[in-house]
Amino acid sequence: MTSLAQAHAANDRADALEEHMMHELEHIVTKSVLFTLADGKVGMESGQSLMAKNPGKYMLMGADPRLPQMPAKPTLIDYFRCRFASTSHLLQSATHALKGGHDEKVVLACLLHDIAVVSFIRCDHGYWGAQMIEPYVDEEVSWAVRAHQALRFFPDESVGYKYPDMYRKLFGPDYKPEPYIVEAYQRARDHKHYMTARLICLNDIYSFDPNAKVNLDDFTDIIGRHFKQPKEGLGLDNSPSAHMWRTMLWPTRFL
Ligand SMILES: [Fe+2]
Ligand SMILES: [Fe+2]
Repeated sequence: MTSLAQAHAANDRADALEEHMMHELEHIVTKSVLFTLADGKVGMESGQSLMAKNPGKYMLMGADPRLPQMPAKPTLIDYFRCRFASTSHLLQSATHALKGGHDEKVVLACLLHDIAVVSFIRCDHGYWGAQMIEPYVDEEVSWAVRAHQALRFFPDESVGYKYPDMYRKLFGPDYKPEPYIVEAYQRARDHKHYMTARLICLNDIYSFDPNAKVNLDDFTDIIGRHFKQPKEGLGLDNSPSAHMWRTMLWPTRFL
């Protein structure tokens, strides 16, 4: 079998397993188009066809029973524990900033800078991440999270920031950022919060040290002081980005 045929066979097995799991569940769990785009397919299964395959069942319109259960009024820390796929990079970057004696807002910006990647989506993660936190943090923090995406690609000798070796490894030696990133960087240079975004880059730790002790508990107080946790629960409030948190809360809801 060629490797392509093997990949197809593995894909078919995964689809079959998924279908089997769907039948095991009480409700019909659906994937949004974005999930299938990530598998290289443009398409979606209609509600009617799913109903036909699962007689007697209704569409899932709430929590996905396969995921860790979230409390009724979730906090940012609950998302860290139950929805973020990986937190070591964030915790290590924030720990680095804390040890460097930076302002608490800088530490929070480091702690949150890649939350979009670990919870939501990679493409344009700085923009998504900033939008997610915008209603709940000081404008300096969300601005810096948005801008770090562009700034990461450009050195700043004045603070000793070089183009990351990791990017050369990840994207190849010839990779050039798209024009919108170049423009975002140029705009950011003159902004009053430029240095906050630059400090995210300086504390952005790629080489995770397995012996480093990092703990979310070290940041509970900073989160408490600088992240405005809505009393209704994060995602269940009426903020302009609540729907993004709700989507993480219930990622497979039919509508
Ligand atoms: Fe990032
Ligand atoms: Fe990062």
